[in-house]
Amino acid sequence: MSNEKIALFTIFGGTGDLAQRKLYPSLFKLYQKGYLKDHFAVIGTARRPWTDDHYHEVISDSLADLNADQETVTQFASHFYYQSHDVTDAEHYRTLKKLSEKLDAQYGLQGNRIFYLAMAPNFFGTIAQHLRSENILTDNGFNRVIIEKPFGHDYESAKELNDQLTATFNENQIYRIDHYLGKEMIQNITAIRFGNNIWESLWNNRYIDNVQITLSEKLGVEERAVYYDNSGALRDMVQNHILQILSLLTMDQPVEFTENDIDVEKVKALRSLRPLKPEEVATNFVRGQYGAGDDAKAYRDEDKISSDSNTDTFVAGKVMIDNYRWSGVPFYIRTGKRLADKFTRIDVVFKRPVVNIFNHEDVRANDDAATSLDPNILTINVEPTEGFELRMNAKAIGQGFATTPVKLNYSHDAEATAGSPEAYERLLHDALNGDATNFTHWQEVADSWKFVDVIQKYWDEHQPEFPNYRPGTMGPDAADELLRQDGHRWVYRN
Ligand SMILES: NC(=O)c1ccc[n+]([C@@H]2O[C@H](COP(=O)([O-])OP(=O)(O)OC[C@H]3O[C@@H](n4cnc5c(N)ncnc54)[C@H](OP(=O)(O)O)[C@@H]3O)[C@@H](O)[C@H]2O)c1
Repeated sequence: MSNEKIALFTIFGGTGDLAQRKLYPSLFKLYQKGYLKDHFAVIGTARRPWTDDHYHEVISDSLADLNADQETVTQFASHFYYQSHDVTDAEHYRTLKKLSEKLDAQYGLQGNRIFYLAMAPNFFGTIAQHLRSENILTDNGFNRVIIEKPFGHDYESAKELNDQLTATFNENQIYRIDHYLGKEMIQNITAIRFGNNIWESLWNNRYIDNVQITLSEKLGVEERAVYYDNSGALRDMVQNHILQILSLLTMDQPVEFTENDIDVEKVKALRSLRPLKPEEVATNFVRGQYGAGDDAKAYRDEDKISSDSNTDTFVAGKVMIDNYRWSGVPFYIRTGKRLADKFTRIDVVFKRPVVNIFNHEDVRANDDAATSLDPNILTINVEPTEGFELRMNAKAIGQGFATTPVKLNYSHDAEATAGSPEAYERLLHDALNGDATNFTHWQEVADSWKFVDVIQKYWDEHQPEFPNYRPGTMGPDAADELLRQDGHRWVYRN
């Protein structure tokens, strides 16, 4: 049976960075694998006055790293058409409609349309509105719209954006990208939780002591300075990626592994987040901004950043979930720029054994019943290494009887990971299949913003003492103190 997918892609922002770095290579990989074949076409649109020939050269250049043979690249690029226009101009959509209909007939696309909005979000509303008013949606095939982050900058703006989109598209036609949901190891969270009795039976507050989620970046703001300075780490990373990961880690078992059932459980998990009162923000969340390092500029000295910017480049927080499964278990989250290394990991720290039979003195010395035996820790390495690690206590080799921590380690084979689809490829494939499981749904977005808005508002009203961490560290000392005050510490320390 053929795996071929049939669709017309219209990429708004076809000349942009995202299109060239991510979308064209991902579409090409789908083409190489036979998911896209004869029955697909792509319209790239933006203001630049490019010709189709020039567009084909750009497509070909964007695939340079893939070392593909030139004939395949040329064949692939021949499916691409460029149309120069301003998305705020209604005329644009009339020519777009004609071109879409022509390509639909030429390639046999059966009215299937995917609109990819790879542009600044302030254009999303006008694009959606024109797609409807100029009748670009079809009646005979599917119509889907894929949109990029950020989805609003607070709950109100996200709702306004959603209202604009839902005037044209139903919720089940809207695919909100969170590229973390396209990562192999993030998708693995449900596999290990619900595919292994040992984990699911222990996955609650009786056995888990705390959970730590770290999304650490080594680079500074780079070319995203203008956007980042208006956003900050809380909005850029916590509202979306971290809360999405948290919902996958904490949701109850879905009835079936389907988009709707998973969404229902994720929403329940997000709605169980304990909302912070403004006066609790300072004790539960830490913000940071990097200063200068040995060979790195301070954030405030970066290009296009104002010298008195109070934007957070680091966040650490303690999140509590008020439900039967998680009551009392702190979820510590952190993310930031110019940290020690680039990686994403999740550490699930289990409770220690209540008695250490190997050292009775130890039991007597501890009031809280937990012993000095190391806790078991399940680490999910999301990137760059992809795999799992489990720390256990075992007997130290040799005479006598001492215990020592050992690690069970599994990493995906480098060859298998190299051939595995990149997040955008996976997500484009899902969108072609009409499967929005690994996209964010409106209620999840709404609940995440409501949680984050309280923190952001408190920060906006209180001056930070920035800069407060050095590049190459894991953020301000206060992020360590956050755990220390609960008797915990970060599993990853540099
Ligand atoms: N780049 C990434 O890795 C990345 C990652 C995550 C999310 N995103 C999100 O993806 C979106 C696109 O990002 P990007 O980095 O690709 O931005 P970009 O490089 O600045 O591209 C913006 C695109 O919009 C077009 N454009 C701007 N104004 C227009 C108008 N009035 N009419 C028609 N076209 C117009 C530009 O082309 P012309 O100048 O030729 O008109 C360009 O193709 C943003 O929402 C961003 O937040 C990007």
